[in-house]
Amino acid sequence: MANTNLVAAKRAKQDEFYTQWADIEREMNAYLEYDPDVFRDKVVLMPCDDPEWSNFAKFFALHFVDFGLRKLISTSYAPDSNPAYAPGNELELDYQPSLFETRSAGFDATKTRSNGKKFVLEAHDINGDGVVNIDDLQWEYLKGDGDFRSAEVTALRDEADIVVTNPPFSLWRQFITWVVAGNKTFSIIGSNNATTYVEVFPLIKGNQLWKGATANNTDMVFGVPKGTDIAEADRSKAARLGYPSTDVHDFTRLGNSCWFTNIEHGRRHEPLVLMTMADNVKYSKHKDVRGAEYQRYYNFAEAIEVPYVDAIPSDFDGVMGVPITFLDKYNPDQFQILAHGDDMEALRQLGVKTLGKDFVNTYYAQGGTGANSHGHRRLGLTEPNYRTAFKRIMIRRRKAES
Ligand SMILES: C[S@@+](CC[C@H](N)C(=O)[O-])C[C@H]1O[C@@H](n2cnc3c(N)ncnc32)[C@H](O)[C@@H]1O
Repeated sequence: MANTNLVAAKRAKQDEFYTQWADIEREMNAYLEYDPDVFRDKVVLMPCDDPEWSNFAKFFALHFVDFGLRKLISTSYAPDSNPAYAPGNELELDYQPSLFETRSAGFDATKTRSNGKKFVLEAHDINGDGVVNIDDLQWEYLKGDGDFRSAEVTALRDEADIVVTNPPFSLWRQFITWVVAGNKTFSIIGSNNATTYVEVFPLIKGNQLWKGATANNTDMVFGVPKGTDIAEADRSKAARLGYPSTDVHDFTRLGNSCWFTNIEHGRRHEPLVLMTMADNVKYSKHKDVRGAEYQRYYNFAEAIEVPYVDAIPSDFDGVMGVPITFLDKYNPDQFQILAHGDDMEALRQLGVKTLGKDFVNTYYAQGGTGANSHGHRRLGLTEPNYRTAFKRIMIRRRKAES
């Protein structure tokens, strides 16, 4: 197997992470709480989901009637195109068509490996058992392999109102670009790290995409194929969270998974409850805030550094640099996002100066080991020693606008 294939197989292995029902339910419930008709009369597409194992497809099929869906479409990806099934990969995943498929009249022993599948549920009680549910799902092979980027699946995206899934991690940037290009309503799982992506941050800033209502700062458990290399600590944590290994799956947990969506939910309209600057200085639970003045950035003196989200002062009208976890609490009516603190061009536009020679010389003289040069536009701090602030979001209170 060529090396590039091995790398692809390794990466694809991490794509086989299956979302748990409870996580889907919690997040969808938050949308429904805000708008009980959020899914009514909608076509919902799950483009990386074989209903045989995808809880997304099962969840929406179960709720087809009470959510008032018009149509559910779920597509799966051909094993022959999926490097996770490539011969010789460490997992040696063996693809077996399901009984559902082999017993079905449309079964084709070749296509089952080379083609994707499309599953559709509409408001027709096909089997006549008096309910519309997963048993009324109709399926057929796609013409191609079911790659979400294919023209065929893209046409399904265009037909859909809402796209909901946990897409392959290795293609996440392409996936979000694909969904956004289709101008769709969406809810997808991703990693917190994605907030800084060029494909994502401008949308967050522009209020076109936001964090989901749930799973922020809590673990999400995923099912993985048996034999997937997972850390023992993660396996046992998943077990403690109620997901011990089964014959079919092992379970792992990820601490940085979250939802990205453009569906409204109540959490983002709850204001962050904050103390004034004076009260923070008097009462903050953080030692480095209590009794100390808020630091100004060395090269951007009009802004203050706020090291903790709960230490954002309620009465400061200028620019503030806050930790990236602020996005979990962000209420667009309360704050405006101005820039990502790691984006030198955005900082330039905001008025941040370069670090300059004096700063960098002192930084290294004090033992700094990072790659800071005088031309860099980073957020310089001087207390308790010279350093640069990382992973900051630059924000301003809404009321401060005039
Ligand atoms: C992270 S898993 C999640 C699966 C399912 N959505 C869930 O949440 O349980 C991503 C899935 O996308 C599939 N996949 C990988 N590449 C794909 C592609 N190019 N197009 C469509 N699906 C793909 C993988 O095989 C994998 O099953």
